[in-house]
Amino acid sequence: MCGIVAYVGQKEAYPIILKGLKRLEYRGYDSAGVALLDEKGLNVYKKQGKVAELEEHLIGKALPAHIGIGHTRWATHGEPSDRNAHPHMSKSGKLAMIHNGIIENYAQLKQDLIKKGYVFKSDTDTEVLLNFIEDIWINNNCELEEAVRIALKRVVGAYVIVLLDADQPDTLIAARKGSPLVIGIGKGEHFLASDASPIIEYTKEVVYVNDYELAILKPDELILKNLGNEKITPFVQKLDMELAAIEKGGFDHFMIKEIFEQSETIYDCLRGRLDAEKGTIKMSGVENNMERFIHAQRIIMVACGTSWHAGLVAEYIFEELCRIPVEVEYASEFRYRNPVIHKGDIIMAISQSGETADTLVAIEKAKEQGAIIFGILNVVGSSIARASHAGAYTHAGPEIGVASTKAFTAQLTVLTMVALRIAIEKKTITHDRYMHLLNELHEVPAKVEATLKLSESIKAVAAKYADAKDMLYLGRGYNFPVALEGALKLKEISYIHAEGYPAAEMKHGPIALVDETLPVVFVATKDSYHEKIVSNMQEIKARKGKVIAVITEGDEVITGLADDVIAIPEADELIAPIISVIPMQLLAYYIGVLKGYDVDKPRNLAKSVTVE
Ligand code: AGP
Ligand code: GLU
Repeated sequence: MCGIVAYVGQKEAYPIILKGLKRLEYRGYDSAGVALLDEKGLNVYKKQGKVAELEEHLIGKALPAHIGIGHTRWATHGEPSDRNAHPHMSKSGKLAMIHNGIIENYAQLKQDLIKKGYVFKSDTDTEVLLNFIEDIWINNNCELEEAVRIALKRVVGAYVIVLLDADQPDTLIAARKGSPLVIGIGKGEHFLASDASPIIEYTKEVVYVNDYELAILKPDELILKNLGNEKITPFVQKLDMELAAIEKGGFDHFMIKEIFEQSETIYDCLRGRLDAEKGTIKMSGVENNMERFIHAQRIIMVACGTSWHAGLVAEYIFEELCRIPVEVEYASEFRYRNPVIHKGDIIMAISQSGETADTLVAIEKAKEQGAIIFGILNVVGSSIARASHAGAYTHAGPEIGVASTKAFTAQLTVLTMVALRIAIEKKTITHDRYMHLLNELHEVPAKVEATLKLSESIKAVAAKYADAKDMLYLGRGYNFPVALEGALKLKEISYIHAEGYPAAEMKHGPIALVDETLPVVFVATKDSYHEKIVSNMQEIKARKGKVIAVITEGDEVITGLADDVIAIPEADELIAPIISVIPMQLLAYYIGVLKGYDVDKPRNLAKSVTVE
């Protein structure tokens, strides 16, 4: 993971890099550091902890450099510490480097270098790669970019690296394989970053660097080459992103801002696609592949974390509406086993960031075996977007809070539209049900808006249960994945142990946990299994468990039974998860805040998991 930023141009580099690192901090916050090159030489400043600590450390320091590199780390090799923070310096002190990714063969390279007299100051794989490059550079007496090329051909793993050479005060060298890298093109200046957020305030012209490409940046020049030293013409794209979309806009945290944006993001997701009156859904990615979808023998959803939960809901929806068998796979498992993939199988890769390494590798593997990759993605131009044959964007805007919220509801919205569009074409849905569901989708933004108005009462529920040690989340049918998502949100943000289960499965084990100290959250909106879930609730109450229930407005039965209820607007059971997940998000958020945690940057996590 980790975030990288670099600048070369006429302006002072440090403020640009610092601001960029703050925007990228969602990618990792174990340590932060910068390397700056000015007339007096190359200086590295780094600190364990968040970017604010680096900033404080550097207050009042004259930092006049016009070229520099910066890094915010999510540790893979070596504990979070000043010593392991990036940038790292080479043995000669001439090169500074930042790195995002993992060098898998670092141990062997390190041993070889130790034999040659190299001494390492950190435990990172990064310092090994840096000195490996330097060793080649010195021994071959070649240009630095040539040494980088030779080194990278021998490296196994994933990386974005950016190098700064003390003797080249106007040049940055960067390379990518498997981790994201964007170049921003300004007037007499160039920017480099892990995503576009540090760049948009200066320029909207960007180039997404591809795997096995090397970039050489000077203030007025951008050269892109492959590892074979052939020049590549950069494909310059215009960024379609506004600065306001990545700022907090008056909210205390990005997470709560993003939760509250959901009526708008879902509306944006539907806009221009769904016409409930005319009964149409327009999605070019689906239209262009309609024959494939109609004849698909199988759809495999591949994703991680919250996106995997969206895949689980989609499994129910696609099987119900399209009568296509669906499998939902954790990308990290799928990529390493030997899955049976038939030509023509459709793989749906679901990912907010579009950069999750496990998902990216999984789809590449499936592609080799003839599968069609359909991306359900939020970030335009991301690595998974580029690796997909077709897809549909979720249009939720940048999601900064590490806990995914608005991306999930947008994924569900898009997946539902895709399923409906296929079902009507395939004639596996009646016209009446189709029209009803279109109308239900159309009404989602308003129902989400109404649900968000419950935030104060959900805060009160949060206060009541914030001291719990464990929590159980239960749901049935379409709401079962919502229970899993509720438990994940709580774990991430409040560090309370939580488990999600299908409500009926509870009696096969988890019921042993129930006593008067265990709060159990039921996602129990009105659906075809309603009476069953009421019975499950009785089973918990009979064992003195505390029940918090998310119910449909007007449900007197559960209101009489549960300790606390959160009543949300009525919706068709197939659509309900888009709404019923919102109380889950708010409950986790308020408990996390009450416990005094940094909910936007929960410990040990990072937003975009670009390592295995
Ligand atoms: C969700 O709150 C998580 N932080 C995490 O599980 C996330 O959903 C997962 O890493 C997948 O990310 P992606 O959607 O960007 O691929
Ligand atoms: N593997 C490197 C380290 O542990 C980089 C990790 C990252 O991508 O942040 O320092």
